[in-house]
Amino acid sequence: MAENAGGNKVVKYGTTGANVLALEVVLPSGEVTWFGGKRRKDVTGLDLVHLMVGSEGILGVVTKVVLKLDLRQQHVVDLLVPFPGAEEAIAFVPRVMRETGLIPSTLEFMDKKSLSLVSRYIGSSLPYEEAGAHLIIQLEGGDPEVLADQYERVGDLCFKGGALEVFVADKRNFREHLWKARKNIAEAVMAFYSKYAKEDLAVPTSSVPELMRAIDRVCRKCGLESANYGHVGDGNIHVNILADDKREEWREAIETARLGLYEITVALGGTLSGEHGIGLKRKKYLPLFLDEAQIRLIRGIKKVFDPNMILNPGKLVDFDEAPTESSSGKP
Ligand code: LAC
Ligand code: ZN
Repeated sequence: MAENAGGNKVVKYGTTGANVLALEVVLPSGEVTWFGGKRRKDVTGLDLVHLMVGSEGILGVVTKVVLKLDLRQQHVVDLLVPFPGAEEAIAFVPRVMRETGLIPSTLEFMDKKSLSLVSRYIGSSLPYEEAGAHLIIQLEGGDPEVLADQYERVGDLCFKGGALEVFVADKRNFREHLWKARKNIAEAVMAFYSKYAKEDLAVPTSSVPELMRAIDRVCRKCGLESANYGHVGDGNIHVNILADDKREEWREAIETARLGLYEITVALGGTLSGEHGIGLKRKKYLPLFLDEAQIRLIRGIKKVFDPNMILNPGKLVDFDEAPTESSSGKP
C-alpha cells in the first residue's frame, strides 16, 4: 500500500491503489481514522485514500484496507513469445490489444541479457534463449474454449509480428518455470554484478520504443551494458545499468548514463519510479521530475500529517528546515 505496488497484472487490473476503496490509518498524532469507505463513488472532501497510497510510510500507518474485488478467472494461459530483437518485441506490444480487442492480464518483456543472467542464476533456461527478447502475454477467462480461441488469435498475430515461435504455457510445470525465470531477474543481476544501477522508469506506453532505443544508445556511449525487462504493457521498464567488475570509474560512468536516461525519460513524459518508489536512494533526483511547487506541496503535506517527523524520517524528500517551535510539540 505504501509503495502502490504494481507488478505484472497492472495492464488489466491497475496498480494496488486502483483497487483500494478505503484505509484505516493511524496518524502520527495517534488518532485512528478511516479514509474512504465501501462505496464506489465519493467526492466528499479530498481523496485522502490515494494520498496515502504510495506515500512511502511518511504520512501514517495503514492498519486496515478495503479492497475492490474482481471476478475470479478460472483459466489462465501464458504465451512465451521469442522475437529476433528487442525492437521487434517492443513494436509488437501495442498490436496485442489494438488488433485483437483483448486485454491481457500480463504483458511482460525480457531482453536477451536478462534471460541469460537468470538462466545462469536458476540453472535452467527457457526455450529460444538466443532470441533478442521475449514477451510473456497472459490471458485468462472463465471458459477454456473461449480462452483457447483467444490465445490462438494472439498467437497468430505474434507470428505476423515477426515472432520466432509461440510457446503456450497452460500446464502448471511450464508456467511455474516461466514465472520463476521472470521473477528471478532482479536477483540474478545482483548475483553476477556488483557494480550496477537498478532503475524503474515508467513512460507513456507509446514512448516505450523511444525509451528502449535511448537506453541502448546512452549505455553504449558510456561503455556500459544493460539488462532490461519489466512491465512493458504499462510502460514500466526495469533498466539495469551494468558496469564491468574491473572498471575503475564505474560510479561516474553509471551516473552519467543514469542522468542521460533521466533526461530522456522526462522529455518523453515519463517518471523516475513506476513502482519501487523514491525512499532514500532516489530522493536527490526528485527535482529532475517534479517542479518546485510540487516538492513544496509534498513538504507541506508531510508537515501537516507529521509535524514531528516521526514517520520514516528522511524518506522521499529532504526538509531544509528543522521542525519549528510550535510543531516540535510533545511526543
Ligand atoms: C520485478 C520487480 C523488480 O518486476 O519489480 O521483477
Ligand atoms: Zn517490477
